[in-house]
Amino acid sequence: MRIAILSRNENLYSTRRLKEAGEARGHQVDIIDTLHCYMDITSSNPTVRYHGEVLPRYDAVIPRIGASITFYGTAVVRQFEMMGTFCVNESVAISRSRDKLRSLQLLSRKGIGLPRTGFASKPDKIQDLIKNVGGAPLVIKLLEGTQGIGVVLAETNKAAESVIEAFMGLKANILVQEFIKEAGGADIRCFVVGDKVVAAMKRQAAEGEFRSNLHRGGAAQLVRLSKEERATAVNAAKAMGLNLCGVDILQSNHGPVVMEVNSSPGLEGIEIATKKDVADLVFQFIEKNAKPNANRTRGKG
Ligand SMILES: Nc1ncnc2c1ncn2[C@@H]1O[C@H](COP(=O)(O)OP(=O)(O)OP(=O)(O)O)[C@@H](O)[C@H]1O
Ligand SMILES: [Mg+2]
Repeated sequence: MRIAILSRNENLYSTRRLKEAGEARGHQVDIIDTLHCYMDITSSNPTVRYHGEVLPRYDAVIPRIGASITFYGTAVVRQFEMMGTFCVNESVAISRSRDKLRSLQLLSRKGIGLPRTGFASKPDKIQDLIKNVGGAPLVIKLLEGTQGIGVVLAETNKAAESVIEAFMGLKANILVQEFIKEAGGADIRCFVVGDKVVAAMKRQAAEGEFRSNLHRGGAAQLVRLSKEERATAVNAAKAMGLNLCGVDILQSNHGPVVMEVNSSPGLEGIEIATKKDVADLVFQFIEKNAKPNANRTRGKG
């Protein structure tokens, strides 16, 4: 098959691994820089142009759209969908996953376990917002944060109130969430391909830290999932409409709860921790599913 990886950087571990794995399975794999794609959207025959030429008809596209280029990146993916090209993750699903509130609302609608979460723009009753999610200890998150930056643990209602007030004063969008203390500073990253969890790792926060992000000194190891955890991850991916994603789960005393679903999950951490060839599994999925016009929304979302 002829397959394109949409990625800004061909040197990233995930991009390199995907190319390597695809080629090892006999495919022709091109890395296309998303921001260098351009197109005539009014043409009756939709195409994508790149470096002065029309891109060939790909059998499949693997979008690796970074958070900072979501807007343009999803437009490029949509153009491929309009051409009937199979996109491993559809543009609408990527957009959903980038909006934390939208994601949580979608997951909640499907009855997937979540930490109790509140959000507000200008509450005149901050105390009520706090009470509503069960009171301190609470986690307060900046919606735009990543890698653990902008995630604050407030151990008392008074501290929570001050932090919320401070963030609101900065006009930041935040959400207020029940602190899952029993998770013990660990979370589980489930790597989902199609309707299966193909690899899972437990990330444990460094001593004295509750955020398990590897960037914050967390350590990862292979983990065996319970049936319920596995089902939660698969259902979360399905609710978001993502075929390839990382579902982050906390082990709470009311069952597994989903923190987040990532539509461009990194391969490095998970392949090292689990020693699984995740990239190869992505291509096995493509071989089974990539057919023209197989995407559900076909760019209509
Ligand atoms: N409600 C919670 N209870 C307990 N621990 C939490 C909770 N929310 C987050 N954490 C811990 O903090 C870490 C960072 O939180 P989160 O993943 O929400 O933000 P982020 O990593 O900054 O954002 P993103 O994952 O979008 O890059 C999590 O990996 C988890 O270990
Ligand atoms: Mg995270």
